Amino acid sequence: MEISRQGTTSVVRLEDVETFLRRVDPGSFFSAGVGNDGRFECLVRQFLASSTRLHHPGYMAHQVALPNYGSALADLISGVLNNGMSVYEMGPAAGAIEVAVIDWMLDKIGWPPTGRNRDQEPAAGRTPGGGVLTHGGTLANLTALLAARAASAPEAWAGGTPRDLVLLASPVAHYSIFRAAAILGLGTGAILPIPSDRFGRILPAGLAALVQRARSEGCRVMAVCVNACATATGLFDPLQAAGEFCRESGIWLHVDGAHGASALLHPALRQRLSGIELADSVVWDTHKLLGTSALATGVLVRDGSTLGRTFQQEAAYVTEGQRDTGVDFIESQFECTKAPLGLKLFLTLAVTGETGLAANIETLFSLTRRVHGQIASRNGFEVLCEPESNILCFRLRSGDDALQTRIRKDLMRRGEFLLSQADVDGQRWLRLTLMNPLTDETTIERLLDAIEALASGSQG
Ligand SMILES: Cc1ncc(COP(=O)(O)O)c(C=O)c1O
Repeated sequence: MEISRQGTTSVVRLEDVETFLRRVDPGSFFSAGVGNDGRFECLVRQFLASSTRLHHPGYMAHQVALPNYGSALADLISGVLNNGMSVYEMGPAAGAIEVAVIDWMLDKIGWPPTGRNRDQEPAAGRTPGGGVLTHGGTLANLTALLAARAASAPEAWAGGTPRDLVLLASPVAHYSIFRAAAILGLGTGAILPIPSDRFGRILPAGLAALVQRARSEGCRVMAVCVNACATATGLFDPLQAAGEFCRESGIWLHVDGAHGASALLHPALRQRLSGIELADSVVWDTHKLLGTSALATGVLVRDGSTLGRTFQQEAAYVTEGQRDTGVDFIESQFECTKAPLGLKLFLTLAVTGETGLAANIETLFSLTRRVHGQIASRNGFEVLCEPESNILCFRLRSGDDALQTRIRKDLMRRGEFLLSQADVDGQRWLRLTLMNPLTDETTIERLLDAIEALASGSQG
């Protein structure tokens, strides 16, 4: 890891599958196992050498955390205990820890706790919140939208998704939202794009007309789905206005906060999420800005009973008799067997603390603001917009879309930098996600020099 941190090796070594497997020789392991002949050490070396180095300062590509040691420890503990804890008796400690973590997330949003921990009952008269952890944001978005469908069309569980349901979504919603619409039987054609600015940030003033149009065509609006923040641009949708509209109109508001909900931890940054408490459901990845290892995502709901009505099944053989003492998460999640995901966040919080995590997030966000200024000041480059998170898009002014893609691939092949790309406002952009506090302005200066050299053809 130290070598990665120093940046003296390649951030990624991309070779074809055959070359890697020829070197590793899986057959020799599969048939005879590993003996005391040095092959295991060799395998570990090969595996590490061909793994993407997230601790490398040149790693700026995807929204995956440099994992907190607490979370890595949780993985080890979970791997040894193997408590598939969806049903309480299969992992009571893991179940109780998940309750604590969900209550913590609900509190950050501004919602009452679940009431499953009798030491933390919701205040009198307040509806308990609800939540469950899933293996990742993609499954979490599907779960939340299934809850929205159950609220609009409870008949859909038995009778299939009615043809009149539509989903209003940001045009730059994560692809998992489109997948969810397809899987839920709505079809991606049932997604109506919410009017937005050129960056894909929704214009809440356009919601009323869109809902009216949908209703006049005989459609039922199942949910409005917005970003906090958008994957491509890192921009936050205006949650307050969207929330007020949805509450007045009686429409389910889903906030995809997979990436950006972690900003709730920081007193100033949480302004970007102001109004989130008006949502009906929020998805929040812990393996992005909270720094846990992959994967663990909170599906949080303002009214806990909605999640309880989502999966309309009685599976008495697995759940009967547990409700008095424990919690059977299987009743409100897809997974039948689930890893003890809550322990990752619990131990991450235990190691770094809430204020420590908030400080990490602020470090990355302010680094991104400085890098934005740095890139904007270089003549050859154009930046998409002021960043609102740790995601930033820029491009070489002189080049077309194909050149941006070629440069990204060349950088990856050379191994010094790993970037991603995004298509926004009709153009292709190089995309930085600054996850590593070791990335600094010097790294960025070297990156920009390397891009210019590659564009001018002086480096291959
Ligand atoms: C906004 C948003 N939603 C959902 C997801 C999917 O999350 P996961 O990769 O955990 O499945 C992502 C991932 O990048 C995302 O950025």
